[in-house]
Amino acid sequence: MASPEIQRIGVVGLGAMGAGIAQLGIEAGYEVVGREVTKELGEKAQERIAHFLQRKVDKGQLGAGERGAALERLSLTTELAALADCGLVIEAIVEDLDAKLALFAELEGIVRANTILATNTSALSVTEIASAVGTPDRVVGMHFFNPAPLMPLVEIVQAELSTEDVVEAAFRIGERLGKRPIRCHDTPGFVVNRVLIPLLNDCLRVLDEARVSPEDLDAAMTAGAGWPMGPCTLVDLVGIDVHVHASEALYEKLREPRMAPPPRIVAMRNAGLLGRKSGRGFYSYD
Ligand code: 3HC
Repeated sequence: MASPEIQRIGVVGLGAMGAGIAQLGIEAGYEVVGREVTKELGEKAQERIAHFLQRKVDKGQLGAGERGAALERLSLTTELAALADCGLVIEAIVEDLDAKLALFAELEGIVRANTILATNTSALSVTEIASAVGTPDRVVGMHFFNPAPLMPLVEIVQAELSTEDVVEAAFRIGERLGKRPIRCHDTPGFVVNRVLIPLLNDCLRVLDEARVSPEDLDAAMTAGAGWPMGPCTLVDLVGIDVHVHASEALYEKLREPRMAPPPRIVAMRNAGLLGRKSGRGFYSYD
């Protein structure tokens, strides 16, 4: 069913993840239509992408002409109707099931019959999201990792009704985006978050149990366990709200106490300390 020669990809939601996915798309030669709810949010994402591509030019990893051509391939819109010609649409909006259901239902009325609909959800069920549409066979998970342009993995998540050819097409697109795709089924947290979320929560509990500072905990896990960045730095990067939501969603489904978010980060989330994106989390950012 899925067209093998997809040229145009839609990305809905241009926050940190959506902007990163859009960047990967234009770098890989796809036309990307990025949709945000306001023109200003779209332009903010475009500036972010332009900045990171400029850094690649500065470091000799990309030609200035290639950067210009890549940026030309990105168009912005606030209208879902502008995604009508996309062969693949990747949803990267807020982690709210109702919002995703409404979006997928609306998208189905806009895109072609063979357009693949993908979700970048971290912790919701792809099968539940697919239930919003009359053709759930074309819905698949494409779960990227933060920062999407740098992290090599993409999980290709087969929902209950996803067809093999849709999963295969998403896998091939993941490869063309320069990623190492893996295939998995739609279970809570898929592969990485099933392991990483409780592990990060264990780390955060140790903050209080061992009365260690965030700096020392990060030093412990980088210098003592070889992690590329410490758990507090990582949760600040991912977003404390995103991490709390993912923990709550997994706890609700699996009922494992380690999945539940430690009270300390729930309090931080409630106080608006969301990590890098709000300027303050475990650390402060300018
Ligand atoms: N987008 C695009 N480009 C970016 C970027 C971003 N968000 N952030 C950094 N870059 C570019 C920058 O241009 C930077 O170069 P510059 O500093 O000279 O401008 C370049 O990438 C290299 O950046 P770094 O020097 O910071 O790269 P490092 O070698 O230190 O590696 C890292 C950074 C890959 C993030 C590494 O620290 C790492 O692997 N950390 C772990 C991250 C991780 O575990 N992510 C998964 C989180 S879980 C998740 O996402 C699941 C979700 O469902 C919640």
